[in-house]
Amino acid sequence: MIRIGIVIGSTRPGRKAEGVARWAFDIALKRKDAEFELVDIADFNLPLLDEPMPAMFGQYSHDHTRAWSAKIASFDGYVFVTPEYNHSTSAALKNAIDFLYHEWNNKAVGFIAYGGAMGARAVEHLRLVMAELQVATVRAQVGLSLFTDFESFTVFKPAEMQQKNVNSMLDQVIAWSGALKPLRNK
Ligand SMILES: Cc1cc2nc3c(=O)[nH]c(=O)nc-3n(C[C@H](O)[C@H](O)[C@H](O)COP(=O)(O)O)c2cc1C
Repeated sequence: MIRIGIVIGSTRPGRKAEGVARWAFDIALKRKDAEFELVDIADFNLPLLDEPMPAMFGQYSHDHTRAWSAKIASFDGYVFVTPEYNHSTSAALKNAIDFLYHEWNNKAVGFIAYGGAMGARAVEHLRLVMAELQVATVRAQVGLSLFTDFESFTVFKPAEMQQKNVNSMLDQVIAWSGALKPLRNK
């Protein structure tokens, strides 16, 4: 069974990311074509990158890196739930991505983003980062607007169509995660 990690991309106290990720997780759990797990970066207590060797070498000197590596390696694909911070993703998510290399390779990722402009610029930025890590980014993405999917910019009340958008994105992530399997087994 294909395993998909839904990564909570903000560690900020009071973050919207957790509620959005739990909503997506509940939608995903209704599917029978993959297994899903919530992955909270905050649980791994990653400092700003503190490994002496580039991740490409896979020589990790800290337990927090080894724990993060084992978790990310256990998936066939991912969904990144990302806020938009200054037209990019969060520093917390970028830092967590930078800690690893081979664990990401030849997998697929989809995005759920939110912000004033539906997190579109955060996703565009992440697509470039994923290219370097040899992760296939799927076309379908979920863009949540702070104006229309959150009441008073705060309480998460997604428009009805967003559930369909989550499933369209998951269709592609699951298909591509499966299609890339032969490359991962090399
Ligand atoms: C440092 C920072 C920068 C931000 N920059 C943007 C931005 O460029 N575009 C945007 O639409 N929203 C921006 N926002 C608003 C966030 O999208 C919004 O606060 C969101 O709730 C943050 O996600 P989080 O609550 O999961 O951490 C920014 C927020 C912060 C804290």
